[in-house]
Order: sequence, then structure tokens, then C-alpha cells
Amino acid sequence: MMDAALERAGEQILAAAKRPSVQVETFFDEPTFTASHVVYDPATRHAAIVDSVLNFDAASGRTSTKGADEIIAYVNRESLMIDWLLETHAHADHLSAAPYLQTKLGGKLAIGREITTVQNVFGKVFNFGTEFARDGSQFDHLFDDGESFAIGEIPAITLHVPGHTPADVAYVIGDAAFVGDTLFMPDYGTARADFPGGDARALYRSIRRLMALPDETRLFLCHDYKAPNRDTYAWETTVGAERKGNVHVHDGIGEDEFVEMRTHRDATLDLPHLILPSVQVNVRGGRLPPPEDNGARYLKLPLDVF
Ligand SMILES: [Fe+2]
Repeated sequence: MMDAALERAGEQILAAAKRPSVQVETFFDEPTFTASHVVYDPATRHAAIVDSVLNFDAASGRTSTKGADEIIAYVNRESLMIDWLLETHAHADHLSAAPYLQTKLGGKLAIGREITTVQNVFGKVFNFGTEFARDGSQFDHLFDDGESFAIGEIPAITLHVPGHTPADVAYVIGDAAFVGDTLFMPDYGTARADFPGGDARALYRSIRRLMALPDETRLFLCHDYKAPNRDTYAWETTVGAERKGNVHVHDGIGEDEFVEMRTHRDATLDLPHLILPSVQVNVRGGRLPPPEDNGARYLKLPLDVF
């Protein structure tokens, strides 16, 4: 039971199998448990950066580009050309470094079309005025479900995979898929679905969609938190491994069972440390708020809203 976008993704992956597979280099930010990926076509060296991190210390309010600068050094060392800065969603646990990377490396900043829904929700939460456009215009491109693009000669397709947020997308690029906050490593499970606009039922359906990709598809995750009995971070697995062994959603676990598990588990989770700073920056495409008349920038802290 394949939908049209997936069927096309499957065909493109099969076609891609005859070409060199994509190369992926991952940069892991331990304070936020985020994996940023540089993905490139080894034949043409065209590349994309998926889900970058701007370092942020909430206690001091200090930002730093240390992690992003490591990515820039790698891209320059490997002589890669950045075509895209891809966000899988508006992250709630880290600030995006995409605007900074764009000034240094170029590339188009993109996210899923439904980001406008998230901008509407958080525009209200933060009481942003009319200067905050809620039409996605902070990004260079908004991807539709099933939309094709390419990294060099490697075909790619975007899949809308809502659930964690209404706007999540996954990027299927050659033989790899960058799945954002949907699936985590098989021994850890799945992303939470309790943020504003989150939906456990939608998350289950999105995950089944990803699991309909060929078993050998390499999956690159946005986060890892280790897992009981595992001492090292991991961010790469396969569709086959997830179908066989994902503790929340392996083959055989039905939608209702998943929703019940996910809902109970979400009720026990604390909000991410950086949710308030992250969301207000990331709905602006990762741009910090403009400076006030004294030259300093300020974030907002809504009280008793969450
Ligand atoms: Fe997230």
C-alpha cells in the first residue's frame, strides 16, 4: 500500500542504487544530543547540511559558532559546494546555525511547507507582532510533500512526516534518508509527539511511511540519547533494522498500541531545556531577533504558558 510520493521515492532510490551512494559526515552536539549531517554526492561534491546547531548557553545568554565552524572547516577541507541548508523541522531543543552557515558557505535554506502552521502557533505564544511574517518567507524554499530535488547527480525527495510537529519532513537523498524527529535508534524508539501541534497518531503513520522505504535505506537521525545498555552515541541505522527491532514501533505494533505508549511516555517527559529560546529563533529560520536601540538582542520568556 504505497502512496504516490513514496513510490516515487522508492523508484528514485532504486535508480540511485546504480550510482555511488551519498557520503555522510555527522557532527554530534552533545549538550543538545543533536546530530547534524553533511551529505554529499562524491562524484560532483555538491552537498547539503541537515539540521545544524548554533551553540547556546542559556544561563549566560551567550551564543557561539564553535560547532558550525567545525562543519565549515570540514566543508572547505573536502572542497564541497553547499546547495542546501535543510531543516527537518523547527527544533525545540537547539538553535539552528543555518543562517550563519549560509553567510559562510551559501546554499538555500529550506524546510517543509507546513512551517507556516508552526509559525502561526508560536507567533501567538510569543505574541510576535505583524513584523513576524507567518508565511515561511524567512526560508528560501518550502518543500511540498513528494517534491523532488537533487544533490549534484543524486536524486532526492522530500516526504512530509508530521507528528512530532505538524511541519516535520524527511529528506530521502540517494540511498539515505534524513528522518529528523520521527524514528530514533531501534533501542531508543521514537520522537515525542506532545509539543503544540504534535500528534502521536500522525507520527505513527509518518513512521510507517518511512518504513515502507527499501529495507537497506540508510537512516540518519536527528538525535541520540544513548539507551539502556549502550554507552556510545549512534545516529545511523536502516529501515530494515527499525522494522525488525524498534522498541516502540517495530513491525507488528499497531497504531492504537503505539499511540497509547507514546501518550503515556510523553506525559513523563520534561520540556527540553532550550525549548523557549529555540522555538522563537527557529520559526524565524534560525535568525536571532533584531537588536534593540542599545544594540543588544533579547529573547522572550513567556511565563506560565507551558
Ligand atoms: Fe525536534
